[in-house]
Amino acid sequence: MPKNLLLLAGDGIGPEIMSEVKKIINWLNTNKKLDLQITEELAGGVSYDQTKTPLTDDVLYKAMDSDAVLLGAVGGPRYDQLEFSKRPERALLRLRKELRLFANLRPAICFSELVSASSLKPEIVSDLDIMIVRELTGGIYFGEPRGIEPIAKGERKGVNTHVYTSKEIVRVTKVAFDLAKKRNKKVTSAEKSNVMEAGMLWKEEVQKFYDENEEYKDIELSHMLADNCAMQLVRNPKQFDVIVTDNLFGDMLSDEAAMLTGSLGMLPSASLSEKDKNGRIRSMYEPCHGSAPDIAGQGIANPLAMILSFAMALKYSLDLDTYADEIDKAVKSVLKDGLRTPDIMEIGKRKVSTSEMGSAIIDKLK
Ligand code: IPM
Ligand code: MG
Repeated sequence: MPKNLLLLAGDGIGPEIMSEVKKIINWLNTNKKLDLQITEELAGGVSYDQTKTPLTDDVLYKAMDSDAVLLGAVGGPRYDQLEFSKRPERALLRLRKELRLFANLRPAICFSELVSASSLKPEIVSDLDIMIVRELTGGIYFGEPRGIEPIAKGERKGVNTHVYTSKEIVRVTKVAFDLAKKRNKKVTSAEKSNVMEAGMLWKEEVQKFYDENEEYKDIELSHMLADNCAMQLVRNPKQFDVIVTDNLFGDMLSDEAAMLTGSLGMLPSASLSEKDKNGRIRSMYEPCHGSAPDIAGQGIANPLAMILSFAMALKYSLDLDTYADEIDKAVKSVLKDGLRTPDIMEIGKRKVSTSEMGSAIIDKLK
């Protein structure tokens, strides 16, 4: 049975970068015996435009039935005035919640070819390779109570709840430790245990998991306050290997880490569920960058994060590691050749469009 990939291109530059992935899939299907079926659906603002909801139930069910979901990006200023539940971002949050994608893997890798694109000194970021493991279905993003309510004449109150259970903390901690085992054997857990009870519980549960599981004894665990972690990331990012943290801190720290590499347009991400009763893991892959409405439609977006997200899907969800490795190699190789989309352009390099970049990847796969 061919595997099925659901493509949700979304808004802004989403369709342009997704179309490069489609090009690659079609080429691999025709020329390299990749047997991958794709289904395309709407999510985000484009879905709202046609159906008045950012994610229809039908698309959600298709996501649940697919072997993996590939998402471009959602959102744009056109939708900023919409009521909360209709916003494009709700598509993303609903997919995360309903598919139970609790573990979000966000690598921050500095490609040696792009070291000078970072705002930090080359020696601070060269060969940087960090993995941020962000909890994705809990914390303040989903906690109840939430809302805006009147409290007195002309006065309103906005409420969100930051809440974590032991179980939620432990399962994401395990993901971080399992990754560290295959990497550089260091886990840093970031929280605000100095001000938040939920942060205190976070720290205690991570430590307890480590103390109680012999198989991780070769891993070095440290705890760091999240604000200090933000500071350490710009001071000396190479001290980190795997960082495990909650939903909100993970949102911020992963943007910071990504930008360190000077190549936000280069970074993929994976979101994974636990195994269900049938042993199935649900997953969604998306670039770390957003929908970049300011450059949408101009053919200048960098498709590499999207292409690398597809490679991650091949590796982590579709058991097609060889194809994934080939794509990873192709990306390195086009960078080496000096091909650059405008976001990573430097003097002496060759500026290419979104589709030229996609085609260059295919040339390398030949
Ligand atoms: C991210 C984004 C999302 C988030 C937004 C678009 C809802 O910033 O994936 O990091 O806050 O999680
Ligand atoms: Mg974010």
